[in-house]
Amino acid sequence: PTSDVQPSKMTSIKTLAKSPDLKTIPSNYAYSTNPDETTASDQEVSVPIIDFSLLTSGTPEQRSKAIQDLNKACQDWGFFMVVNHGVPEALMKAMINASDEFFNLSKEEKQEFAGKYVLDPIRCGTSFNPSKEKVFFWRDFLKVIVHPEFHFPNKPIGFSELSSEYCKRTRKVARELLKGISESLGVDNNYMEKTLNLDSGLQIFILNLYPPCPQPELAMGLPPHSDHGLLTLLIQNEVPGLQVQHNGKWVTVNPLPNSFLVNTADHLEIFSNGKYKSVVHRAVVNNRLTRMSLAMAHGPSLETTVSPASNLLDSENNPPAYIPMKYKQYLELQQGNQLDRKSCLGRVR
Ligand code: SIN
Ligand code: FE2
Repeated sequence: PTSDVQPSKMTSIKTLAKSPDLKTIPSNYAYSTNPDETTASDQEVSVPIIDFSLLTSGTPEQRSKAIQDLNKACQDWGFFMVVNHGVPEALMKAMINASDEFFNLSKEEKQEFAGKYVLDPIRCGTSFNPSKEKVFFWRDFLKVIVHPEFHFPNKPIGFSELSSEYCKRTRKVARELLKGISESLGVDNNYMEKTLNLDSGLQIFILNLYPPCPQPELAMGLPPHSDHGLLTLLIQNEVPGLQVQHNGKWVTVNPLPNSFLVNTADHLEIFSNGKYKSVVHRAVVNNRLTRMSLAMAHGPSLETTVSPASNLLDSENNPPAYIPMKYKQYLELQQGNQLDRKSCLGRVR
């Protein structure tokens, strides 16, 4: 394909990876990584862990410890694992199984969901944005806007009902974490809810499929990027592949059983006026196993222009650090272009 290929006409990676004699990847999937960036594993460094139950049902001391932990995790990493979150393990497992079934639908069945515009409620495709990319990614995806209005594909049977429940549960966890994060920044726990209109906040369901790749060192599942919203909660099947950037290294994340992998996103960086930097992350592929991940992205309402928390600003030493933009415009800018680290986050100076 050339760069003006019709996204909906592109072969899915699932189909491409199945070709029996695929020994090398097509040249337009060869991605060049930065050789200066080395890889570590989370056995060498310890990824922060947040015990969610302490935020919601701990003693006041336990809650304030959890808030301190959030503060440290957001400042040092922009990434943490959440345990004891109360979302049933069976529901998380069922989501991964149903997701597998979704990708097993025929090409014709999936064609119905091949949206084009970034804010189409249901969009199924491959790579990230094939109409803008010169190099494609080793990834198929389904993206659905599930809040403020719930949309969902009507197949496979039962997937929509299951997902509706999962979306509600994860949104609750995200909002509780955002309350804790608000407090960790020194404002009331409902400050973010109110000023960013989280009652009508955007929630996007993003399902990723990374089939085995014959030359995993040459291909990329998703390139280095930060997320556009506030907070993303991710789960995956048993195959690792998520890497987060930490102190100039790529750290491969090995999740604790039944945990959420949480990353901070650009609008939290804007809200905290740069105190909590959104974390750059990527998805690598391997030559043996299919990886699946399900990311739930949580943002402000689309019409909100996020301003930094008022207590973090003063006109002399701490003016607003980022160019203000409506969340909707920011999202269209990031999702409508090539995914490229933090290229959309504009600083005032
Ligand atoms: C993402 O960044 O949206 C997904 C990363 C992953 O698949 O782990
Ligand atoms: Fe991401």
